[in-house]
Amino acid sequence: MPYALRIDASSRHQSSHSRKLADRLEARIIESCAGLTVRRRDLAAEPIPHILDKTIAGFYTPPSQMTETLREATAFSDTLIAELKGADTLIVSTHMYNFTVPSALKAWIDQIVRVNETFSFDGEAFTGLVPVRRAYLACAYGAAGYGEGGAFASMNFLEPYLVSLLRFLGIKEVRAFRVEGTTADETTIAEAHEMAERQLDAAFRAAA
Ligand SMILES: Cc1cc2nc3c(=O)[nH]c(=O)nc-3n(C[C@H](O)[C@H](O)[C@H](O)COP(=O)(O)O)c2cc1C
Repeated sequence: MPYALRIDASSRHQSSHSRKLADRLEARIIESCAGLTVRRRDLAAEPIPHILDKTIAGFYTPPSQMTETLREATAFSDTLIAELKGADTLIVSTHMYNFTVPSALKAWIDQIVRVNETFSFDGEAFTGLVPVRRAYLACAYGAAGYGEGGAFASMNFLEPYLVSLLRFLGIKEVRAFRVEGTTADETTIAEAHEMAERQLDAAFRAAA
């Protein structure tokens, strides 16, 4: 059964704008793709451990030379990578912290970006090894102006970073949606969600 893997990074649940946007995104994806189920990984509910010295050693040890200790140290990374590579679709919901990805999401990234597992290097070129068909990002920003030409565009180390990273891993189709100004007043926030809704409408109408 094909599945969409949904990764949620916000520490907040009910009041999270990135999760709210991702809920709408997920509904559209399910609507447009009959038979697709959703598997969730909530990085706030179950934080991903940082990689350790022995995890890194395991990442760079050829399979034939792996010891029990190294196998144990990389077992969780194996699980996360299998979950990612088995997905048809990836949904990542995240917020911006200090102009970039929150550490909860970065910990997941550090576990899944792994040589000869999710990318390879032949001495000249890198090749992405993740066969996920398409990825969607649902990003929340406290301020506004992170889009092209915006006042904060040059400070956006969240969305462009995630798009580049997922493409590096081999996912060719990456679409990003955002809700900005989430620390503003209620009217501004409601307008930001309405704008995101219109962007979702347009994107999924065009894809239908
Ligand atoms: C520690 C911290 C750092 C933040 N850094 C930024 C930032 O650099 N730029 C920004 O636009 N918003 C920033 N914000 C605001 C969050 O991105 C915003 O509140 C977002 O809606 C949180 O995501 P959520 O609603 O899904 O929980 C920051 C918030 C916190 C608590």
